[in-house]
Amino acid sequence: MSKLNIGKNVFSQPMPLALLGTHNEGKPNFMALGWFTRVNNNPPLFAVAVNKAHQTNVSIRTNKTFTINFPTEDMIIETDYCGIVSAKRMDKSKIFDVFYGELENAPLITKCPLSIECKLHDIMEFPTNDLFIGEVVAAYSDEKYLTDNIPDLKKINPVVFTMPNNNYFKIGEKVGDAWSDGRKFEVDQ
Ligand SMILES: Cc1cc2nc3c(=O)[nH]c(=O)nc-3n(C[C@H](O)[C@H](O)[C@H](O)COP(=O)(O)O)c2cc1C
Repeated sequence: MSKLNIGKNVFSQPMPLALLGTHNEGKPNFMALGWFTRVNNNPPLFAVAVNKAHQTNVSIRTNKTFTINFPTEDMIIETDYCGIVSAKRMDKSKIFDVFYGELENAPLITKCPLSIECKLHDIMEFPTNDLFIGEVVAAYSDEKYLTDNIPDLKKINPVVFTMPNNNYFKIGEKVGDAWSDGRKFEVDQ
C-alpha cells in the first residue's frame, strides 16, 4: 500500500474562512473562524467551534447570539488580524463597518457579501473548544452578489484556507452539478 499515515491533526481541505461576530461589553467583536458548518436542514442550524480561551466564547454565552460573515479576498489582512488578536487584549470594534438585522448584540459586517445572524440553540462542550449551535434568523447579501436571488460563488469570490500549513486560497472553476451528475453513473454488472 502506498498510502501514508499522516497522523491525527487533520482538517477538511479546504475550509471556508469566516468572521464570527459577537458583542463584547456592548461593542462589536469579530474573530476569524474556520471550524464551522451547517448541521440541520429545518430549522436551519449552524455549528461553530470556539476555543474556551477566546472572548467570543464568553460573549456567545452572555448574549446568546452570533453572526457568521464571509469576507472577500481584499479583507484577508483585517480578517487574519481578527484571528491573531483577542478582544481580551485589543478593541476590534472599529475594524469593520457593521449593521444590525433582527437580533440585538449580533453585529453583521457591511462589506461581507454574505452574513448570517443566529440565535443560540445549544452548546456542546469539548475539552478545548465548545460547539455553539445557532439557529439562522436571517441572512443578508447585496444584489451584486446574487443570481436569481441565490448567493453566486463567482460573484462572492470567497476565501478558503488550509490547516495545519495556514494558507489562504481563492476558489477555482465550477466542475459539476450537485444532485445531478450522479445520474450519469453506470454500474458495471
Ligand atoms: C484563519 C483562522 C481561522 C481560525 N479559526 C478558528 C476557529 O474556528 N475556532 C477558534 O476557536 N479559533 C479560531 N481561530 C483563532 C481565533 O480567531 C483567535 O484566537 C481570535 O483572536 C479570538 O478572538 P477573541 O478572543 O476576540 O474571541 C482562527 C484563526 C485564524 C487566523
